[in-house]
Amino acid sequence: MQDIERIGVYTSGGDAPGMNACVRAVVRAAVANDLEVMGIRRGYEGMIEDDFVEMDRRSVSNILQSGGTVLKSARSEVFRTPEGREKAAANLQKYGISALVAVGGDGTFRGASKLHEEHGIAVVGCPGTIDNDLFGTDATIGFDTALNTALENIDRIRDTADAHNRLFLVEVMGRDAGFIALHSGIGGGAELVLIPETITEMDMIKERILSLMSAQRRSTIVIVAEGDEFGGARGIEQALREDSDFADIDLRATILGHTQRGGSPSASDRVLASRLGVAAVEALVDGHADVMVGVVNGETKLTPLRNVYSRKKSIDYDLLKLTQVLS
Ligand code: F6P
Repeated sequence: MQDIERIGVYTSGGDAPGMNACVRAVVRAAVANDLEVMGIRRGYEGMIEDDFVEMDRRSVSNILQSGGTVLKSARSEVFRTPEGREKAAANLQKYGISALVAVGGDGTFRGASKLHEEHGIAVVGCPGTIDNDLFGTDATIGFDTALNTALENIDRIRDTADAHNRLFLVEVMGRDAGFIALHSGIGGGAELVLIPETITEMDMIKERILSLMSAQRRSTIVIVAEGDEFGGARGIEQALREDSDFADIDLRATILGHTQRGGSPSASDRVLASRLGVAAVEALVDGHADVMVGVVNGETKLTPLRNVYSRKKSIDYDLLKLTQVLS
């Protein structure tokens, strides 16, 4: 393998708090290893459209604490085509970039693997998504911050729910995974948590809510993951409103939505992002490619990208049982 002289870094897919901390770590680790580094704006879109920017130690000053991503992010349809990837590879070649650090989720890594397979670019991934749904790491960059944002909002909802003895359905993000729902449900003392990983049996849910509401005559909070099979909080709300048993129950649905994606990263996300950014550059320098760096049981670990996007990370079913015991 030829020596790497210049690397590229990009953020792609849904942004996550801590992406900037990761970009900063990548740039500074590259400089420490005598590598030049270029940022690629708007992920694969920018790679195709020649949106590259030189970066150095100073260009990543004062971004550690900010949400979003200074490199911007996008979901690229063109990159899914071989022609799109040809263009991207030609631009990388033009700038002498033979290795990349990709910060994103499974879609980002599928693209990175293709780039490696078809054009021989060495890519190392850093897991960046609020959903925490990536195999090969205990936590993804952004999950902790999103979770704390959700929790802060659930606490606020609890105040008003309690004041009115209301039933609240609170939808949190997670199109395919229930990590935010499960953890914020436990942290926020939710009476029920509905996630895509389990079957939502409407009759059972109705019965449970009715018994909670009649036994306690106080607030009840149901956390619903966006990807729950009934169509999130709105879907559950509709099903309950159509049932005459719920006619006397004061019910509201709240969707937390993209509030969970923004904001300054938590301490834990800043440390994780910094650690993974440095580990990604070191992995490239050591000759690794087509892998993701993660943290498993406190240790950094490399996992082939193929495993990251083809295997499903399981939720902790013991935590799900906890929600039943504690409600
Ligand atoms: O993958 C992160 C995520 O926030 C999901 O939880 C959510 O379903 C999706 O992105 C929303 O994507 P967009 O911002 O493109 O609507």
